[in-house]
Amino acid sequence: MLNLHPMQPKHLAEVAELQVAPEQIKFVGCIEDIMVNIDNFIHPHVMLFNDTVVGFFLIDTTYSAQYQFAAPGSLGLRAFFVSELFQGQGFGKQAVQLLSVYLPAHYPQYDTIYLTVNCKNPAAKRCYELGGFRDTGELYLGGDAGPQQIMILNFSLNRRD
Ligand SMILES: CC(C)(COP(=O)(O)OP(=O)(O)OC[C@H]1O[C@@H](n2cnc3c(N)ncnc32)[C@H](O)[C@@H]1OP(=O)(O)O)[C@@H](O)C(=O)NCCC(=O)NCCS
Repeated sequence: MLNLHPMQPKHLAEVAELQVAPEQIKFVGCIEDIMVNIDNFIHPHVMLFNDTVVGFFLIDTTYSAQYQFAAPGSLGLRAFFVSELFQGQGFGKQAVQLLSVYLPAHYPQYDTIYLTVNCKNPAAKRCYELGGFRDTGELYLGGDAGPQQIMILNFSLNRRD
């Protein structure tokens, strides 16, 4: 069974070994480049399958301050990936589906999350749609690898307040 978990020091060795296929690096970068973004506001999380780390993502609490398209006080999903060895087994889809419950539990003061996905990355877009993200119909043109579709998920219905 797949679980999401805040990354802990004990995950570090496995996270350091995660990698996407060479042709996918343009979509997320490599793990060394991703890790330098982590600070008090940009948090690392892992996807665990039977306690093995199979994927990774960042939750960015400063996203709306950086991206004009994001409503004030919303989160950003960044660097979402499943390691190459574990792709194509439904983990990406399951991880996105779990976010609707995981985010309200870990970020109760938020109710919306945005992401951008490259127009040339239909597999990732499909995952996000299956997990409830909606294409806003707007494009973000600031990325290095070409236009990106802007997607949004409202998870307020699952908040326990
Ligand atoms: C995108 C990614 C997270 C998907 O993870 P995954 O575990 O391999 O995906 P899943 O096995 O859960 O499959 C998800 C869905 O995408 C579909 N899919 C796969 N390749 C596809 C393609 N080229 N076009 C459309 N859909 C595709 C699958 O069929 C599946 O849908 P289904 O269940 O309806 O059949 C993974 O490929 C990845 O890490 N890619 C590199 C990094 C990346 O691009 N991250 C996204 C940055 S925005």
